[in-house]
This record gives sequence, structure tokens and C-alpha cells, in this order.
Amino acid sequence: MSAKNRKIVDVLNGKTISPPPLWLMRQAGRYLPEYRQTRAAAGSFLDLCYSPELATEVTLQPIRRYGFDAAILFSDILVIPDALERNVRFEEGHGPRLDPIDVDGILALKGDGVADHLKPVIEAVGRIRGALPEETALLGFCGAPWTVATYMIAGHGTPDQAPARLFAYREPRAFAHLLDVLAELSADYLVAQIDAGADAVQIFDSWAGVLGEREFADFAVRPVQKIIASVKARRPQAKVIAFAKGAGLLLKSYRQQTGADAIGLDWSVPLSFAADLQKDGPVQGNLDPMRVVAGGTALDEGIDAILQALGNGPLIFNLGHGITPQADPDNVTRLVARVRGAAR
Ligand code: CP3
Repeated sequence: MSAKNRKIVDVLNGKTISPPPLWLMRQAGRYLPEYRQTRAAAGSFLDLCYSPELATEVTLQPIRRYGFDAAILFSDILVIPDALERNVRFEEGHGPRLDPIDVDGILALKGDGVADHLKPVIEAVGRIRGALPEETALLGFCGAPWTVATYMIAGHGTPDQAPARLFAYREPRAFAHLLDVLAELSADYLVAQIDAGADAVQIFDSWAGVLGEREFADFAVRPVQKIIASVKARRPQAKVIAFAKGAGLLLKSYRQQTGADAIGLDWSVPLSFAADLQKDGPVQGNLDPMRVVAGGTALDEGIDAILQALGNGPLIFNLGHGITPQADPDNVTRLVARVRGAAR
């Protein structure tokens, strides 16, 4: 048992717990009426991210409602490009927008002001820890350099990240430099979150799945390996979950190559393969978020299949990607009850 009796930390240390502890990616978000209310009062999405008081409030909302085993810091992966003065904004109905970066922009990037810019986020971590129940773990996070870079290059979300893939082929040196800068800043940011009270951190590589084998090694594995090595060199007790969405078969070596303590699985990962991955250590996932929207038997059957395949090993129950705005909060109540009712 971990010193503070936080189940997710125990699982990250390799323990099997039945029923498994759970949290949901994007658990604080638009499917919750209380989030929509705070979000409307905050003004812009980034104002919400940079208000320690409001970020704390929305982080705690899903904990109050559902008693998840972990809270995740409310912020966004794009606060790093925002701190790098890439003019990040979130326009209603459009997702994120940034000023697209070019080779000169990459060479001119300066990390000097980043820690200062992110101070309100770190302050929120401390406040959240102070307000959480003792047994609830607190997760920090950052985006993986590849995923953050895709937004910085295109200047917006795209379905296949073609602009970033093309840029990486045409300008390999500038692209490698961008990944290095992001890896270094992300490692410092995660260390600051850990020092402020995060029990573990998750690295989100939401766009890992668009990469070929060699690019996966260079753009997804290597920068994440650098971040984890840097964090663990400075904070040996730190635990890291790495979520490489869409990585499929490449997940086989991902844990070992990156040094992640646990790997996150999206819903396309077959459960037989997931069980195989679990032989090497803890896994997290992997319910299709659409099952939470559908509810009923689609929800129940999805949950049961995961528990049956992965419940006898170290598992953090989660979705395979973020919960979506159209999910009914009552379906989440049902999910929590079903997972918690499932003792071996
Ligand atoms: O999980 C949590 O509850 C913590 C908060 C969190 C947010 N974004 C809040 C958010 C986390 C961990 C993220 C990570 C994030 N942000 C990722 C990686 C995970 C993933 O979902 O793939 C990515 C790619 C982003 C970038 C981003 N932020 C996009 C593409 C969008 C627009 C799409 C959308 O869902 O609206 C955002 C906005 C965003 N980040 C919202 C929230 C709650 C919605 C904005 C709003 O409330 O107006």
C-alpha cells in the first residue's frame, strides 16, 4: 500500500487491485453542467486554465460527483505553445488556433519565460492537492512533443496531421530542434507539477497513430523517453503514464523504450493484445467513449469485457480517449458503479 493509500499509485507500482481504481480522460469538461457554468463565468478557455481558483474548482467537480480515484489537473496541452508566445486561442466551435510556426520561428523559440507563464497552473496543482480527499491521487500532465508540434505547425487541429508530417520530411533539422525544445520544457513543467503535489503525470501523445514505424521511433518514442529520463533523474519517485493513441503494435516496445511506468491504451487495442502488454506492467484504459454516450448494455458490455480481460493484473480503468460533450452524466454514474461493483 502506498504511504497515502492512493490506489492508482499502488497500481503504478505494479500492484493488482480489485476492483481496479478509475478515472476518465477529460473527466472535467463540457458533459458536466457545473463545468459549463464555471466555463461561461471564466470568459475564455485559457482564462479558466490560468485562474488557479477556477481551475481548482473544475478539477474538483468530477471528484465531488463521482469520487474518482484520481483528479487530473485542469489545464491543456497547448499552454506550453501559449507560453512560447504562439498566440494560442480557443474559438467557439473551432477548437484551438495558433500562429503556424516555420523554420525561423522554431529557431527563434525561447524558453526563458515559460516557467513564469505557467506559474498559475502550478499554483492550481498545490491548491487542488490541498482540497482533495487524502485517498484521491492527483495527476499532472503535458502533451507529448509530437502531438504539441502538430498543432504548432498546422496552427489548428487536422484529421491526419499531414502538415506536421510533411514539415518533418522537408525540414528534419528544424523539426528535431522543435521536438527537443518541447521535450526539455515539458520535463521542467512536469517536475514543477510533481513538486507542487502531483502523484503521477500522464504524457498525452494523441496523434502517435498517424506516424510510420521509423517516425514513431524518432518523433514519438525518443522525445517521450527524453522527458521521462529527465523527470526521473530529478524526481526518482515520480510515476509516469504514457498514452500513445493509435500506436497499435508499436505499443509492444513503447513502455520499455520510453521508461513509462504504465501505458495508456485506446479502444482500438484488442483486449488479448492488451493482456499481453499487461504482462510487462500496468495498463490504463480502454473503453470506447461512444459506449458512455450510448449507455445501457453497450456501456455494461464494454466495461465487463475490459474487467474480464485485464482485471486480474495491474489495471487503471479509464476510457480509450477523452469523454465527449454529448455523454450523459448519469451514464458515468452507471460506469463507476459497475466498475466498483466488480470485485473478483
Ligand atoms: O482530462 C481532463 O479533464 C483535464 C483537462 C484536459 C483538457 N485538455 C481540457 C480541455 C486535458 C488533459 C487536455 C489534453 C489535451 N488538449 C489533448 C490531449 C488529449 C486528447 O484529448 O487527445 C489535446 C490534443 C488537447 C488540445 C485541445 N484542447 C483540443 C484539440 C481542444 C478542442 C477540442 C475540444 O475537445 O473542445 C481543446 C479544448 C479543451 N481542452 C476543452 C477542455 C475541457 C474544451 C474547451 C472548452 O471547454 O471550451
